[in-house]
Amino acid sequence: MPVLSNRINQNTMRNHKNVMNKLKVFSMALVGVVLLIQWGCNQGPREGTREAQAMRGKAIFGEQCISCHGMDQIAPTRTDLEKKAADLTRIMERRRAKDFPIVEIAQIIDGRQWVKSHGDREMPVWGEVYDSLGMDKDEIRGRKGELIAYLMSIQK
Ligand code: HEC
Repeated sequence: MPVLSNRINQNTMRNHKNVMNKLKVFSMALVGVVLLIQWGCNQGPREGTREAQAMRGKAIFGEQCISCHGMDQIAPTRTDLEKKAADLTRIMERRRAKDFPIVEIAQIIDGRQWVKSHGDREMPVWGEVYDSLGMDKDEIRGRKGELIAYLMSIQK
């Protein structure tokens, strides 16, 4: 009798192990499927990356800059400007720059410092515009960062 119950015990243990192994394989497969689904849903650029920044910059550009500068295949609609708005795909080419002039372009877009040293301009002083919309310093810096990330992505 003790021998028999021992055998039964061994059998149940073996069965148990089998079940556990199957369970392990199954849960690993499940994790794989969940990861795949997540990956599939996450095809946009990851938050915090330059791509994500550029995408937000592009959206803003399409609202606030497109009328004068145009965008992709869309021509500018503001034809009453004294000075033609610069082609923003050639910022680096015009300057023969190897690196994108981030600081300079941030100052040009912001305009508050720029206007002090260069005088009036036709482009809105975006730093003032954003300030008057209630954006704080960090938000304005973030906004310029997004616009610049977009401009960097369209350089020829
Ligand atoms: C009302 C028309 C107008 C709008 C709107 C406008 N711009 Fe401009 N932008 C200009 C003009 C004109 C110039 C050429 C410099 C000048 O005389 O102001 C210029 C120049 C620039 C330059 C300098 C390019 C270089 O190579 O020096 C940058 C960068 C720029 N704009 C970015 C922007 C961004 C970003 C926006 C939207 C947030 C914007 N502009 C909206 C008219 C406009």
